[in-house]
Formats: sequence, C-alpha cells, structure tokens
Amino acid sequence: MLTPSLKKQFKKLKISPSFNLRANKVVYYGDCLKLLKQIPDETAQLIITSPPYNIGKEYERKLKLNHYVEQQETVIKECVRVLSQKGSLCWQVGNYVNKGEIIPLDVALAPVFQSCRLKMRNRIIWHFAHGLHCAKRFSGRYETILWFTKSDNYTFNLDPVRVPQKYPNKKYFKGPKTGQYSCNPLGKNPGDLWQIPNVKNNHVEKTDYPCQFPVELAEPFVLSMTNKGDWVLDPFLGSGTSLIAGIKHGRKAMGAEVNKKYIKITCDRMDQFEKGLLKTRPMNTPIYDPKTIKPNRPVSPEQESLFNSVDLSFR
Ligand SMILES: C[S@@+](CC[C@H](N)C(=O)[O-])C[C@H]1O[C@@H](n2cnc3c(N)ncnc32)[C@H](O)[C@@H]1O
Repeated sequence: MLTPSLKKQFKKLKISPSFNLRANKVVYYGDCLKLLKQIPDETAQLIITSPPYNIGKEYERKLKLNHYVEQQETVIKECVRVLSQKGSLCWQVGNYVNKGEIIPLDVALAPVFQSCRLKMRNRIIWHFAHGLHCAKRFSGRYETILWFTKSDNYTFNLDPVRVPQKYPNKKYFKGPKTGQYSCNPLGKNPGDLWQIPNVKNNHVEKTDYPCQFPVELAEPFVLSMTNKGDWVLDPFLGSGTSLIAGIKHGRKAMGAEVNKKYIKITCDRMDQFEKGLLKTRPMNTPIYDPKTIKPNRPVSPEQESLFNSVDLSFR
C-alpha cells in the first residue's frame, strides 16, 4: 500500500497508481508482472528498461544465473504481449559478476529474446568513463542496450536524434550534384556507440538512488521510436528516469517499482519536472575532457597549461 503522503503526491501530480488508458502517467507500486497483467495487448509503443543485474545491489537478491534468466523471461514474454506491432523493446544491461568471472547479461538473455521472435535492430554500446577500478581485469566502462522490434514495419524517426556532421559544409565536387551539400543538413545518424556520462555524484541528475541511468540515455529511444501521445513503459522504474524521458517529450509513461523509497524519488523528480526545476544533462552535451575543458577545482600548474575555459556546468 502507498503511504498517505505518497497517495497525496500521486493525486497532485495526476499519477495513476494502476494502469488506466486515460491517464498520462502510471506508477505501479509492486511487482512489474502485476502491472503488465493490467495492460491490454499491444498497448506500449516503447518498452525501455534497465532490469536488476543480479549483482547484489541494495534492491536485489542475488540469484543463480539460470533462475535470474527464468525470472527475466517471464517479464520479457509479458512485455512482448503488451508491445505494439510497430513498437520497440530496449533492454539495457551490464555484466553479471561471479567470483571475478563476468557474464555479459545481453549474451545470457539473447536466447530469450530470440525465442520471443523479436528482431534485433541494434546492440548499442553505452560507453562511460567512471566506475569501479578493477585490480585483476580491465575496468568495465561500457554496458549495452539491445533494441528489438516486433515486426519489420516499426517506427523509427531518425531526424530528431541526428547529431552534427563532422564536416557539415562538405559538398560534391564532381557529377550532377556538384556544389550541393553531400551530407544531410539535419545531421548524421548517431551510430551505435554512445558516449554518455553515467550518473555519479557530480552529475546534475544524481538522486539518492544507487543505480540511475541518465535521462539522455533514454531520450534518443523515446524520440526515434515513438510519436507524441504514445505509451512508454519501464517495468523496472527505479528512480523513474524513463518516465521522465517520456513525459519530457509529450509521451504517456508508465512503470512499476517494488521499493516505496524509490517511488518517492520518482515522484519528487516528477514534481520538480512539473515545476520546471528538474535539471537534466542535455542530449549531445560534449564530454568532459581534462585536456580541453577547464575543471571547476584547483589544478597543478602543469595541468593548468592544458586547459582552456569551457563551461563545465552540465558535466
Ligand atoms: C537497475 S534498476 C533501474 C534503474 C532505472 N533505470 C533508473 O534510471 O533509475 C532496477 C529497479 O528494478 C526494481 N525491481 C526489481 N524487481 C522488480 C519487479 N519485480 N518489479 C518492479 N520493479 C522491480 C528494483 O527495486 C530497482 O529499483
């Protein structure tokens, strides 16, 4: 049961506590399977999530890998049922680690997606610079997002997620198009390797939640795979990042979370968003580079000579 204060917050923010076709925001407190059971077939245009990785975080109980995969399979099958024919399912995972041995979870889960007859469109590498420093293997600095569609006729709008061309003024120098721009003036396809800072302590989006992904990681999926008014679903909400990415761009959004403390974080973020106070790192902000960007703390004279003055406020 939600606490009276959470109930009040839900009401104020017009969040529905169970699935409701007429709502814009649904936050279900409890097991995602129970929320999924409430959703009619083919309702969600985008399902984007970062499930528990089974690595013993504060919100999970570490299971044997085969049990974890079985649990995920039950959720994935329900997700496929509620996914629209033109829709996309994006599963963001890292490694399962057991006594120093790593098993990439996308590899472990691939047979499940295959058995659901989903079609993989990309395996996106999310590269970030910060994390644990390993002593007996190279430190892990990427995770993956598997993108699947249910059919070949799927929504994919590239224009809203194009990124600046390396040489925007390049023109054809021979042939019938001589003198015309040779690249798309709206920018290029962002590719399948995304460099986006992870949410560590100095990130503008950091909350008390232990495993937040950045809003700008979810935004390209929302913008390219859905249209305004479509449903975005995250079965493992955490601090509500996917929900924020959806609502920010005029989509309807829903999700489930088993921990009340995290539901409160989601509500507080939604509240800040509604008031125009929620800070998010804008998509395509340049990555902090100590060689070219002046840090916001004192540095040695040797380092100082490497820096020029670039704003760090969105790091
Ligand atoms: C990796 S985190 C998601 C983080 C999220 N992407 C964010 O940016 O905040 C996974 C979340 O799933 C929740 N969870 C685990 N099992 C669940 C279940 N059966 N139903 C709903 N939520 C669950 C955990 O409490 C945890 O908060």
